[in-house]
Amino acid sequence: MASAGKVMLVAGGSGSIGSAIAREAHRQGWTIAVHGRSAEKVDAVCAALGCGRTAEGFLVDICQPSAAETLVAEVVEQFGRIDSVIDCTATGPGGITGFFAQTDMQAFGSFLDVSLCWLERLAHAAYPHLASEGGTLISFVSDAGVFAAPRQTLIGAARAGAIGFIRNFALEAARDNIRAHCISPSFVEGSESARKMGSDRMAKAASRAGLGLPTAEDIAPLAVFLCGEGARKMTGQVISINGGLNA
Ligand SMILES: NC(=O)c1ccc[n+]([C@@H]2O[C@H](COP(=O)([O-])OP(=O)(O)OC[C@H]3O[C@@H](n4cnc5c(N)ncnc54)[C@H](OP(=O)(O)O)[C@@H]3O)[C@@H](O)[C@H]2O)c1
Repeated sequence: MASAGKVMLVAGGSGSIGSAIAREAHRQGWTIAVHGRSAEKVDAVCAALGCGRTAEGFLVDICQPSAAETLVAEVVEQFGRIDSVIDCTATGPGGITGFFAQTDMQAFGSFLDVSLCWLERLAHAAYPHLASEGGTLISFVSDAGVFAAPRQTLIGAARAGAIGFIRNFALEAARDNIRAHCISPSFVEGSESARKMGSDRMAKAASRAGLGLPTAEDIAPLAVFLCGEGARKMTGQVISINGGLNA
């Protein structure tokens, strides 16, 4: 397999989408660094992958100072290289979604720090390793950053920031043989966010998605493909995967 011996860091790899990516990439021969905050969840993902030398868990709270540098250094110490970084972290301070007038003015700054600024810190920390291996950085964003929708003003602004970051980063980083993309879900069946959203909103979204809403397993192969040889001439793309909900 072309991916044998290559190392993928899945930040937020214990979550709904991250764990599906970890499973798919591992199945395709990648060595996986599974990151998260809860040891129990990270251990469960690693155990399902069979652990051993091709999957290892890393517990770093991304709200802590130097989290990105610590995480990258620990992965490099364990595996000696990083070929791909996929950021699937989702932090959920309250007051971010909802009608703008009801959102929390104080919450937005800290949300930007653990979403957009975290991505920037992760990219900085991983850059030398991705450059030496000709690697890929993927940021999970959301359709709120691409398509306007009610109750998404703050989250849409944060996600649009991440999209702007990745597209500009991709142009420059291509000179160092680094590729970068955003993957943009909307509503993901069976995910933690879907559970929080509630069955009524999910059913309403599902009724508008002609192809049916994706699951995390529908999204994972795209992420792994973008990190592989088949996508070696692609960079700077923002790919929505939403079952036809938005186009
Ligand atoms: N699912 C959806 O419907 C949907 C829709 C649009 C966009 N997205 C985007 O897709 C990405 C993945 O979503 P998801 O549904 O897989 O999210 P998820 O299931 O909630 O997973 C979030 C991941 O982030 C980790 N995390 C959260 N706070 C952390 C912290 N302070 N330090 C370290 N790790 C932390 C979680 O670890 P712990 O569990 O240990 O805290 C978990 O691994 C996110 O960027 C999300 O915004 C998702």
